[in-house]
Amino acid sequence: MVDQTAAQTVSVIGLGAMGTALAKALLAGGHQVTVWNRTRERAEALVADGAKVAAGPAEAMAAADLVILCVLDDAAVREHLEPAAAHVRGRVVVNLTTTTPEQARSLGRWAAVNEVTLIDGGIMAVPEMIGGPAAFVLYSGAAAAFDRYRAVLESFGRAEFVGEDLGASAMYDVAILGGMYAMFAAFAQGGAMVRTTGGSAARLAELMAPFLQAMATTLAAQAPGIDTPADFVPTQSNEFTAAAIDLIDKSAVESGTPTELYGALRRALTGL
Ligand SMILES: NC(=O)c1ccc[n+]([C@@H]2O[C@H](COP(=O)([O-])OP(=O)(O)OC[C@H]3O[C@@H](n4cnc5c(N)ncnc54)[C@H](OP(=O)(O)O)[C@@H]3O)[C@@H](O)[C@H]2O)c1
Repeated sequence: MVDQTAAQTVSVIGLGAMGTALAKALLAGGHQVTVWNRTRERAEALVADGAKVAAGPAEAMAAADLVILCVLDDAAVREHLEPAAAHVRGRVVVNLTTTTPEQARSLGRWAAVNEVTLIDGGIMAVPEMIGGPAAFVLYSGAAAAFDRYRAVLESFGRAEFVGEDLGASAMYDVAILGGMYAMFAAFAQGGAMVRTTGGSAARLAELMAPFLQAMATTLAAQAPGIDTPADFVPTQSNEFTAAAIDLIDKSAVESGTPTELYGALRRALTGL
């Protein structure tokens, strides 16, 4: 049983902008941190903060019970882990590298064969936010290991466990980012439209941001329409929603800023 309040030995592999922020948060939390990065200078920059620099990824993995990986992509994760399998056996690996859900599950199959306990994570923050109140990280996979190291992982921000399927954190991650991009696309289109009336995107931002914040609070009420659709009675019919979106599309055409956006929204939301 790990004492949640005690300092832990943790290794961080990958010290780009994000990995460096993660390592600093662990050091600030009083943990014993060993680091490794392909470009050694980035690792040495953390010595003044108290980090120990390993000679290679295998040495870094062997140095700690908990190994955090934060490199560019799934290929770079494999490049580090596979040759070091003997050194990481019996350890808990938390992969905070952004991957697809299936890449996370595939790494889980490798981990099972090599007796590694794997947790996948999706960081919902930029490096400057790590350790601050607005940062949170989604985790999935080995639930017992997550519970054991929860306090360490909370050094980065709120720790949200979303399921034992290793693909879950990546799936929630991309779902949330999808919401963000849909909002940005509608703002870019709306900005172009209001400019044709002498308005500005800056004025639209003032008006749109609080409205969208209020709309975001209705997501939970809409969730049963997706989770248990057979029992759900929508407050607006698909026909009503389709007509509302058609009106927006017609306004875009009138403004001379036609777009694919609203047709796609209409199909996604109503199937019509
Ligand atoms: N930055 C963000 O806002 C943010 C937010 C959420 C999630 N993430 C995720 O965090 C991960 C790291 O992002 P980052 O912002 O730290 O990126 P970054 O600043 O570009 O750093 C990339 C890191 O990966 C290493 N790397 C790249 N290719 C490699 C390879 N083939 N072999 C070994 N090491 C390799 C780099 O090593 P060198 O130093 O030697 O180049 C560096 O440590 C990504 O998966 C990213 O999607 C980032």
